Amino acid sequence: MDNQKISQSIQSLVASAPDTRSLMGETVALLRHELPHYHWVGIYLLDKGELVLGPYVGKPTPHTRIPLNQGICGAAASSGQTVIVDDVNTDPRYLACSLETRSEIVVPIVRDGHILGEIDIDSDIPAAFTEQDRALLEEVALILADKLSVKG
Ligand code: SME
Repeated sequence: MDNQKISQSIQSLVASAPDTRSLMGETVALLRHELPHYHWVGIYLLDKGELVLGPYVGKPTPHTRIPLNQGICGAAASSGQTVIVDDVNTDPRYLACSLETRSEIVVPIVRDGHILGEIDIDSDIPAAFTEQDRALLEEVALILADKLSVKG
């Protein structure tokens, strides 16, 4: 599936998923399945000033709650900007989840200027994430932003 098809499929999940949690779960599963360089795909939701792990596909992570001043996840949420890290081992912000991980992209989910959460993807391949990944995931984040509720 090309990126346009992936985005369309996620858009159609909005209509078919029974609730937001299922929509997020089906979205991470679809991304993981369609994009072989996406080894860990998850969604964190902002809840009472912390990022709380929601649906994900991949190995369990110890980072189920991340304060906004920690990690690449915290950096993306507090700046409201997508963060791409080509080599996680040289980024002092990085919170390790799996020893195999080499690169990461984190895309905030924003509605009306409020951060609702973020899409976090790890790859075992160095510098795996391109501008095409950024464009796709920012589109997916917009689709999800429309459906998620604000928790702060
Ligand atoms: N690497 C992230 C933490 C989340 S795990 O990758 C799933 C970070 O540095 O914020």
